[in-house]
Amino acid sequence: MDVTAAAPPAAAPVQVAAGGDAPEIRLEGISKVYADGTVGVAELDLTLASGELTVLVGPSGCGKTTTMKMINRIIEPTTGRILLDGEDVTRVDGDRLRRRIGYVIQNVGLFPHQTVRANVATVPKLLGWDRRRTRARVDELLATVGLDPAVHGDRYPAQLSGGQRQRAGVARALAADPGVLLMDEPFSAVDPVVRERLQDEFLRLQASVRKTIVFVTHDIEEAVRLGDRIAVMSAGGHVEQFAPPAELLGRPANDYVADFVGADRGLKRLAVTPIDPGDLERAPVVGIDASPADAARVLGGAAGAVVLDAAGRPCGWLPADRAGGAGTVAGAMRAVEPVPVTATLKTGLSVLLRVDVDAVPVVDGDSYLGVLTAGAAHTTLRRSVERG
Ligand SMILES: Nc1ncnc2c1ncn2[C@@H]1O[C@H](COP(=O)(O)OP(=O)(O)OP(=O)(O)O)[C@@H](O)[C@H]1O
Ligand SMILES: [Mg+2]
Repeated sequence: MDVTAAAPPAAAPVQVAAGGDAPEIRLEGISKVYADGTVGVAELDLTLASGELTVLVGPSGCGKTTTMKMINRIIEPTTGRILLDGEDVTRVDGDRLRRRIGYVIQNVGLFPHQTVRANVATVPKLLGWDRRRTRARVDELLATVGLDPAVHGDRYPAQLSGGQRQRAGVARALAADPGVLLMDEPFSAVDPVVRERLQDEFLRLQASVRKTIVFVTHDIEEAVRLGDRIAVMSAGGHVEQFAPPAELLGRPANDYVADFVGADRGLKRLAVTPIDPGDLERAPVVGIDASPADAARVLGGAAGAVVLDAAGRPCGWLPADRAGGAGTVAGAMRAVEPVPVTATLKTGLSVLLRVDVDAVPVVDGDSYLGVLTAGAAHTTLRRSVERG
């Protein structure tokens, strides 16, 4: 995505990642006891790594929003300390703290009587940026989150779709280039298809801006998809497990976590476990121009062969029962787009099932490494649990 595309040529280049400082956030023994005596969060210790996306996940009422709002002190903690890169911000000026922290509110929370541009410009205005700089920044950000400034910039929130409102909310939170981004169920109000697209775009955005992000959701699928690390919480802001997605799914710390991640956690793990080149099987290879009789000789007793195109790149799978007749390998093979070695097991297996073959060729760039089979995927998956 070209993030500078929307900026007028005369404007100084505005970098999305200009601030660059994505602080570590340390919560030390923070608690929130509400006025009526409700303990929202009790004695929570949590360190959120610089530049990582940490997900807080847990059932309704467990204290996710309370925890998040204590980080920017919209809710003042009853006890404990908050440290940004070691600096105690528990008692610094709250307004100044909040300008360093972008915030996407649960249910979006755009100002309904302001245009999209005015909404996104909220914090730059507070910071006293001049019109030109603000305008350039706002239009750049709208383009970054996939809204066309010329089309959507002057609309009011009610004139946007749910997904577009969510994007505008993300743009507003990023406006002053904060090092920290707090996002409270930012994608919960849209249908699953739009949500998945927003998640994908958001992952791409985070790969380029690398903020320290705290992301709240009660959806474990979303947590696993987005999180570098996930904190599974239970009532009172208690953290039951704090681990990367693969570890959480592979080795839940207790019954509560196992229950929360679901009985299908094995399937979910496919999406967070990369293909392991060491587990790939070596299938014979045959050129696309070879005759099926040649192919039958190459096959020996193998279940099939990988078909290479004229450039030596895998382009298909020839099952043993289709080799040996008349015609060409090209006519007998099943066309399969090879899977990059950087893909997950889920991607590999979904190709396997979609094309209905026994094995999917895996490539590193253009070079053929081996084939992924259901057995190979199982071996990788099993080992990833043993390693933890
Ligand atoms: N102002 C308040 N006064 C009293 N209790 C409150 C207040 N705000 C929240 N709580 C209570 O604190 C607990 C944690 O609330 P919180 O909003 O942090 O939950 P949550 O995990 O974000 O839930 P959800 O998934 O529904 O958004 C709940 O029991 C809630 O009822
Ligand atoms: Mg909440």
